[in-house]
Amino acid sequence: MAVIDLHSHILPGLDDGARNLEEAIEIARSMADDGVGVVSATPHVRDDYPTSPDAMEAALGLVRSAVAEAGIALDVRGGGEIALDRLGSLADDSLARFGLGGNPRLLLLEYPYHGRPLGLEHECARLRQRGIVTVIAHPERNLSVQERPGDLEEVVRAGAVVQLTAASVDGRLGRASAGCARRLLELELAHLIASDAHAAGVREAGMSQAAAAVGGGELARWLTSDVPAALLEGDELPARPAGLRRRGGLLGRLRR
Ligand SMILES: [Fe+2]
Repeated sequence: MAVIDLHSHILPGLDDGARNLEEAIEIARSMADDGVGVVSATPHVRDDYPTSPDAMEAALGLVRSAVAEAGIALDVRGGGEIALDRLGSLADDSLARFGLGGNPRLLLLEYPYHGRPLGLEHECARLRQRGIVTVIAHPERNLSVQERPGDLEEVVRAGAVVQLTAASVDGRLGRASAGCARRLLELELAHLIASDAHAAGVREAGMSQAAAAVGGGELARWLTSDVPAALLEGDELPARPAGLRRRGGLLGRLRR
């Protein structure tokens, strides 16, 4: 099964990602070369980049045509990375149009880089009641989560799934993000890896590098392929394979 990347800034001119169509194509090519088969384009939807569903869909159409014309085997789909404080002001129809990978019941919520978002678990639970699954974007980059990774348990219990950024997992974003990503995997509080790519090149995308960093094999496939595929289909998540599990025993407890 091909790798599915549910978080990227491949759409040109909407945010701090691709600046033009050429760069978008460059990102698409580097993703396809890295083994990615499906990518969700998730422009920022927040105060500094208030992307509208119309703008996202127009840019998506352009990129899809250009990718096909360039003969790149990559299925580029829609989406959005919604800031928590924008959530309340978006109509149901807009939320559905920002649905990840074209699934109107799958939403990518940006976890802030600083501070602890109060009431996030309630927001996730409310969305879940409306049949919407929340994907929490890269909490491992947040200082509070780095200090207390277990705090994420509440949002996961509320029905959210947690996305780690590929460059965190393999250490490209530094030791703090890498350590937190690993801890979240051990605690089984992380469910998928996505690139959050803003530019082309293995340094920026690098899904295969992240898959290798978790030891490859079944766990890597679960994080980069099986879980995102189930989310796109609206299916239950597949059982998590062994690997990087919560450490048991006295030694494990002492290390925590
Ligand atoms: Fe992002």
